Amino acid sequence: MSFQAPKGTFDWLPPRSERVLAVREALVAPLRLAGYGYVETPVFEDTELFKRGVGESTDVVSKEMYTFPDRAGRSLTLRPEGTASVVRAVLQHNLHTGQLPVKLWYSGSQFRYERAQKGRYRHFWQVGAEALGSEDPALDAELIVLGARGFASLGLRQVRLLVNSLGDKNCRPAYRAALQEFLRGLDLDEDTRARIEINPLRVLDDKRPEVQAQLTGAPLVVDHLCAACKSYHEEVRSLLTASGVAFEDDPRLVRGLDYYTRTTFEFVHGGLGSQSAVGGGGRYDGLSEMLGGPPLPSVGWALGVDRTYLAMEAEGLLDEAAPGRVQVYGVPLGDDARRRMFLLVSELREAGISADMAFGGKGLKGAMKGADRSGARFALILGERDLAAEAVQLKDLTTAEQTEVPLAQVADVLKGKVQ
Ligand code: HAM
Repeated sequence: MSFQAPKGTFDWLPPRSERVLAVREALVAPLRLAGYGYVETPVFEDTELFKRGVGESTDVVSKEMYTFPDRAGRSLTLRPEGTASVVRAVLQHNLHTGQLPVKLWYSGSQFRYERAQKGRYRHFWQVGAEALGSEDPALDAELIVLGARGFASLGLRQVRLLVNSLGDKNCRPAYRAALQEFLRGLDLDEDTRARIEINPLRVLDDKRPEVQAQLTGAPLVVDHLCAACKSYHEEVRSLLTASGVAFEDDPRLVRGLDYYTRTTFEFVHGGLGSQSAVGGGGRYDGLSEMLGGPPLPSVGWALGVDRTYLAMEAEGLLDEAAPGRVQVYGVPLGDDARRRMFLLVSELREAGISADMAFGGKGLKGAMKGADRSGARFALILGERDLAAEAVQLKDLTTAEQTEVPLAQVADVLKGKVQ
């Protein structure tokens, strides 16, 4: 039996892998323009960091973590998200004692033991951004606009933005109590009843129709916001409107992680089926304190790279043929020609022209097939006679036109022809 990638994981292979890298770059580009700096944190962390940061009552922590002891018996967990790690890194390195907000971006693998399906994987990629240490609605709005810009720059037109406010430590407790009282009166199974006591907001997110049907009259957090949260939320909304970023108020938007306060938002795409969120985030003013740090009001988001790629596929943005692997392909005929071609392709690469050649002693037919498959525009055919004449046959693979070029001039001639 041969090996397969583990359930819920998959391999990114060329040419899709190149395109997904470009997607990742496009999502990051707006962050760089706004002064966010790159942070790389370990792929595994102390398990306790996620338990405290993300919250023990969340599905992510209670059901989905890849947790293991290392050889010294420490409990480690593959990161299921990036925010807790970034806050940990900021506190550990005292970045919060300098200029605020600390603006950071990251990109990389995340791991969640979820039920695998299209768009929901156990290993997936995120691009994330965090702005730490400022309570300013302009910062919430900035991040949302930067996320929207990233999607727009990829040509995506069907991304919708949902926004909500979850209130803060002043107004959330009263809302939570009102919601609990409402939920306790419903006809719910035992697990859900238990959830009412631990994390009632999550019940609003229950997807089952029989539960949703009972939730129509549920109290909404927007009706329970204190004056400060209300005006903060209004300011975020008006900055979004002024920026020309379309959004929808979604008073039932609750997020799957416990650290959120005030602004929360999600980017959703209609072409993805049930896993519609291509990104999400919000403010997390209490997270630093939950991790033993000083108050550090912060806001951030993470965008799902895999799902963004699927969204692009759904919108037909990836239909064009992928660009060729290289611009030029060498076809050496015989051992001496192979040695010379080896030097010639390296010379071309140094000149900034992408080039590959046939390996494995292929004959003309096999090597020309390789040239076609590489997507190269030009083939360089080098036979014994050409070698003797210090020249090479340059074949344009789109027109089949062939010209002889002196070996010493190949790089210059090609530079004029490729882009
Ligand atoms: P999240 O909503 O859990 O938030 O994940 C953000 C995005 O990652 C989702 O919208 C989705 O596109 C993608 N994603 C999540 N789980 C999967 C999965 N199993 N398979 C494929 N894609 C997935 C966070 O992670 C927060 N740390 C965001 C944040 C940053 N909040 C504040 N700062």
